[in-house]
Amino acid sequence: MTTTVIDSIGLLVTHDSDRSEVHDAALLIEDGVVVWTGESRGAPAADERVDAGGGCVIPGFVDSHSHLVFAGDRADEFEARMAGRRYEAGGIRRTVSATRAASDDDLLANASRLVAEARAQGTTTIEVKSGYGLTVADELRSVRLAATLTSEVTFLGAHVVPEGIDRDDYLELVTGDMLDACAPHARWIDVFCESGAFTVDETRRVLEAGKARGLGARVHAGQLGQSDGVRLAVELDAASVDRCTFLSDADVDALAAGGTVAALLPGVEFSTRQPWPDARRLLDAGATVALASDCNPGSSYTTSMPLCIALAVREMGMTPAEALAAATLGGASALRRTDIGHLRVGARADFVLLDAPSYVHLAYRPGVPLVRRVWGGLNPSS
Ligand code: NIG
Ligand code: FE
Repeated sequence: MTTTVIDSIGLLVTHDSDRSEVHDAALLIEDGVVVWTGESRGAPAADERVDAGGGCVIPGFVDSHSHLVFAGDRADEFEARMAGRRYEAGGIRRTVSATRAASDDDLLANASRLVAEARAQGTTTIEVKSGYGLTVADELRSVRLAATLTSEVTFLGAHVVPEGIDRDDYLELVTGDMLDACAPHARWIDVFCESGAFTVDETRRVLEAGKARGLGARVHAGQLGQSDGVRLAVELDAASVDRCTFLSDADVDALAAGGTVAALLPGVEFSTRQPWPDARRLLDAGATVALASDCNPGSSYTTSMPLCIALAVREMGMTPAEALAAATLGGASALRRTDIGHLRVGARADFVLLDAPSYVHLAYRPGVPLVRRVWGGLNPSS
């Protein structure tokens, strides 16, 4: 087994509760696992040495929310929104048509391109949802293709009711044959619980069916207005409720008391001109917050976690340290993973060397490619 030491690290972020940040640090990895961290001068000998040149090393980003299996482009909708149009969930059906018409090879090539794009920006774990197929065959191929790219696959048959099928019949399908086909290829089930998509009662029905098939629950809620979907997510012990733009005090209290992570998706607010979620309110209440890209062709066509961090710091009341934690540890909590999102001894050796002395530069130098090198995580050739 080969050991590698990364030394001359200007600032190392471990997220260890005793010593979360170490200056003039080194990191020792063996067989894809972190086996030692500390000050450079105390670093053990190793088979290989990498000089970090004074740069900052952070855990790889854990992007807990994306929709990468799709075809087509909706730049025209974005352009119209920037001119004042509102976001409407109905645009999803355009992507459904393009996705159904695409070949497996084209869908995989597009998703792989986006995974490579995410990794180049420091993402080492990404969750990928289905949801642009919406027939048994098209959802099955979406989760199968997603499973070739990540182990964090989510079945999102309940994205919208597609054209040409009665609502009750579609719910029967999503909780029946479609779920049966997709569950073996997925870890999670999600519902788009928003006006224009699914109601709170429908969301409960779909999530309970998924849980009965062994899938963990996640929910989209609180994007377009306050909704009982947030408290439903906590009640059903969903791993995360994603959006949380509009929250009542009762929602915030429930999130603080429960085991459900509030995942905030600033790329959506950027791309839809909606109000920014109030991360400060959630953090002050004691809720666990994640930041994720929600990469999709409609409401947030970005894979960039550094962009999400910059927006969270600039617009959502987070400190740079809180935003980095939400994009790493928070994302890991949203996927109920303890092996990623930090660099404590025993963690997966998924980490990023920045061309910057501190992670503060992720927000301080917005839009600048600061990732020098990425270790571990997503398969770079996928
Ligand atoms: O915004 N989540 C639900 N839908 C996705 C994509 C929406 C779209 O294609 O417009 C989202 O997260
Ligand atoms: Fe989404």
